[in-house]
Amino acid sequence: MSETKKNLKNAFAGESQANRRYLAFAKKAEEEGYSQIAKLFKAAADAETVHALNHLRIVGEVNSTADNVKTAISGETHEFKSMYPEFIDIANQEGNKQAVWSFNVASKVEKIHANLLSKINTALETQQKIENVDYFVCKICGNTVEGSAPDKCPICGASKEQFFKSN
Ligand code: FE2
Ligand code: FE2
Ligand code: FE2
Repeated sequence: MSETKKNLKNAFAGESQANRRYLAFAKKAEEEGYSQIAKLFKAAADAETVHALNHLRIVGEVNSTADNVKTAISGETHEFKSMYPEFIDIANQEGNKQAVWSFNVASKVEKIHANLLSKINTALETQQKIENVDYFVCKICGNTVEGSAPDKCPICGASKEQFFKSN
């Protein structure tokens, strides 16, 4: 891989992180009553997304949807089958209960993502019609549910009100 391709990948990772970090900072600024600072963090976060997407496109990692679905399945599968189980073990050994919780709910939800994507992948491969359904996301754990929000999140126990419809 060329040095520039490596740099594009690293810059994509950094810009992606800056986007989420600034959204977290904006939320905190709002909680602390700094609405103008929150606005600036959100604007910068939007700009970091533009940078991240430019880098990813230019490095050549946005392919056809059929390929992207497969890439996503393998990423999600790696996360729930190997990355998170390893992280959970270490967090347990280190007695970091919050990290255990965070890794654990993420791992369970990545498995759900892999399953939802696999269903779509099968439909694509067999040229079946792709169902038109809404997805609901749990604000607490990220659980992703097709159709309608459950009364209680089966991953984290949150109530129905914690789910929002993704668009
Ligand atoms: Fe940037
Ligand atoms: Fe995921
Ligand atoms: Fe949840």
